[in-house]
Formats: sequence, C-alpha cells, structure tokens
Amino acid sequence: MKLARRTEKLRSFIAMDVLEKVQGMAQLGHDVISFSVGEPDFPPPRAVKEAAIKALKGDFTKYTHSLGMPALREAICAHYRRRYGVKLYPDQILVTAGTSPAMLLLFNALLNRGDEVVLSDPHYPCYANFLRFAEARPVFVKVREEDGFQFRPEAVRKKLGKKTKAVLINSPANPTGCPLPSSVMKSLAKTGKYLISDEIYHGLTYSGEERSILEFTDRAFVLNGFSKAYAMTGFRLGYLIFPRVFSKIFQNMAQNFFISASSFVQAAGIAALERAEADQKRMRKIFDERRKAMLAGVKSLGFGVANDPTGAFYVFANAKHYTKDSYRFAFDLLEKAKVGVTPGIDFGPSGEGYIRFSYATDLKKIHEGLARIGEYLRQRRLI
Ligand SMILES: Cc1ncc(COP(=O)(O)O)c(C=O)c1O
Repeated sequence: MKLARRTEKLRSFIAMDVLEKVQGMAQLGHDVISFSVGEPDFPPPRAVKEAAIKALKGDFTKYTHSLGMPALREAICAHYRRRYGVKLYPDQILVTAGTSPAMLLLFNALLNRGDEVVLSDPHYPCYANFLRFAEARPVFVKVREEDGFQFRPEAVRKKLGKKTKAVLINSPANPTGCPLPSSVMKSLAKTGKYLISDEIYHGLTYSGEERSILEFTDRAFVLNGFSKAYAMTGFRLGYLIFPRVFSKIFQNMAQNFFISASSFVQAAGIAALERAEADQKRMRKIFDERRKAMLAGVKSLGFGVANDPTGAFYVFANAKHYTKDSYRFAFDLLEKAKVGVTPGIDFGPSGEGYIRFSYATDLKKIHEGLARIGEYLRQRRLI
C-alpha cells in the first residue's frame, strides 16, 4: 500500500537528523558537542515550572476551550499591548501545542493547491516542507549575505502575482540570526498581500529594535511560541494570531483536529508571560555573551560572516572555501571531530556552502567545540 503522494515528497528536517545522530553517539559514550540544535540549554523559568506543578496538583488536567484558556489568551493580548502597543482580542488567538502545529493549521486553512507563498531563501526548512505538504508552492526570494540575509522589498514585489496568497517573514530569523528592518516590514505591508510573521525568536534580540508585523498591518497572521525565549521547548506551547473575521474557522479547525492544547502547560504559559521577565533578561544576557564568543571563534577559523547576527541564537557562516557540500562537511565533522553543526543546504538552495552554528550551549562547550573544529580543519590542511 502506498501512502498519499504528499508524504513521499516530505523530506527530512536535517537539523533533527543531526540532533538524533548526536544523541545516538552520546548514548554510545562519545563526547559530542552540539552546535546544531535550536534549543536553549537553560531550564525553564522557576515560575513556569511552579505553575505547571501547581496546575497538576490542583487537577487542572481537563480539556480547555479549543482556542486556548481564556486567561492565557488574555495574557497574550496583554503581552502584545505591552511590548508592541497593539490591541488584540482573545478571539483572534489560537493556542497550540507548539508553533509547529499552528503553522500546519495556518497553511492548511490558507492555501489551495497551487497557491503561492513568497519567502526568503535561505529560510527555516519546515516552512517549505509545510507549504508543499499543503500542496502549495513556496516561491523563493534569494537574500544575500551582504544584506544581512534580508529581503530587498523590490525583489519581493517582483515575485508577487495573482496566485500569491501571502508573504512569509521571520525576524529575527532562523538560520541567520538577522532581523528584518522595520522599513522593510512597512514596505511589505503596503503590497496589499497578507503577511505571515513568525515571531518565535522575539525576546532574543541583542541590539536594535524588535517590531511585530501587527504594528504595521492587521492583514497578518502571526506565529509565536514559548520554546525559544522562555526555554520551554519540551512543554510544546505556541499560538497563532489571525484577523478576527477568521475566528470561527480556526475554532472549528482546533475543535476537530486538536480539541485543545494541554491544560497544565497552558497554565505554565501564563506564568511565562506574567512572571518570567527577569529570567528572560538573564538568559538573553548570557546568550549575548555566547553570541560574541561564537562569532569571534567562527571568524577566527576563517568562516565568513558579512553581518554580525543580532538575534535568535545562530551564526550562519560562509564555508564555501572549505566545502561545496555542506551536508557532507557537517556529517564528516560530526564523525571525525565530534561536533554537530547544521548544513546550510537544510535551509534552501541558497544555503549551500554555509554552516549554521547554534550558540544555545554554554561557553565552555563553545570554546571546546571551536577548538575541535580548528583541529579538524588543520588536519585537512584547510587552514
Ligand atoms: C523559525 C522557527 N519557527 C518555528 C519553530 C518551531 O518551534 P516550536 O514548534 O517548538 O514552537 C522553530 C523551531 O526551531 C523555528 O526555528
């Protein structure tokens, strides 16, 4: 029996392949350092853990409203009002088990077969995989290292047509760690197309501004979640913000497909938004120290970084003078030097020749991992 054609086209998320291999090697007793994973090494904030435990002890373990606990949706509205000055209503928010399910639901709600979504190349790999799964077509706009891997608005406009359903932005971005300037957001908002804005790395900006697309237009869908800035990857908690007119449609989808997100995890989400600001600040400060160390180290090894990244926890470095095959390079480095990195090809065709280094790990490991990479390059007479 053959499964549906859409499953045959779904390729693996290579960053996860690397992670799973790193985990397998560690289980066999190898001392592996991982710069591959987009997951903070911090424990979640204490208030978050306490809220989850309190909810469990109080038997807060039933289904919630399909759009999410009203109190959590209120807290998300308050968060967007406080941070960006935008007014949201709880009925335009859908709470999900992570940002990924929100994306799956959004793309399936939005797209008919053959519809197009414009996005950057390179990009977070799952975007293109999700879009193809929904039988839509990702339309890539090549973004350049010298532009901080961000859109030139005129290049986006050239790709817009009758079939364009939305333009997708991600700022600060995975894999590049670069922000999208507010002037570009403004310009994209004027195209008249809907925008999809993945704001999951908000809260992890080390210099410069952090703006939500909702400051510039309400013709937008926002994806966001608690995995990154609150170190809550395993809690699985995210949300989608949509224009209010679509409320009942998303509610119907949530009722049918998910029933609701986990109740005690949602209680922890409220604590994250209301009582974890100091923890967030502390983690951001540490990430910034790591960012500087990773950047200096990567550059000193001869990898190219045209614009220092100022957000998320990634350095996307040019390795074209070391390899034309980032996949082989990454897996060889893992086997020989016991350092996991993510090959640029995971992030789209323009990512080939680049390597993504995640600095969501401690300074000691960053220095040790970089030393191992240096040794690997020296042994191959590449430096
Ligand atoms: C840009 C981006 N969006 C969404 C996600 C998904 O996050 P989660 O499903 O953990 O909320 C990730 C995870 O790496 C990401 O990098």
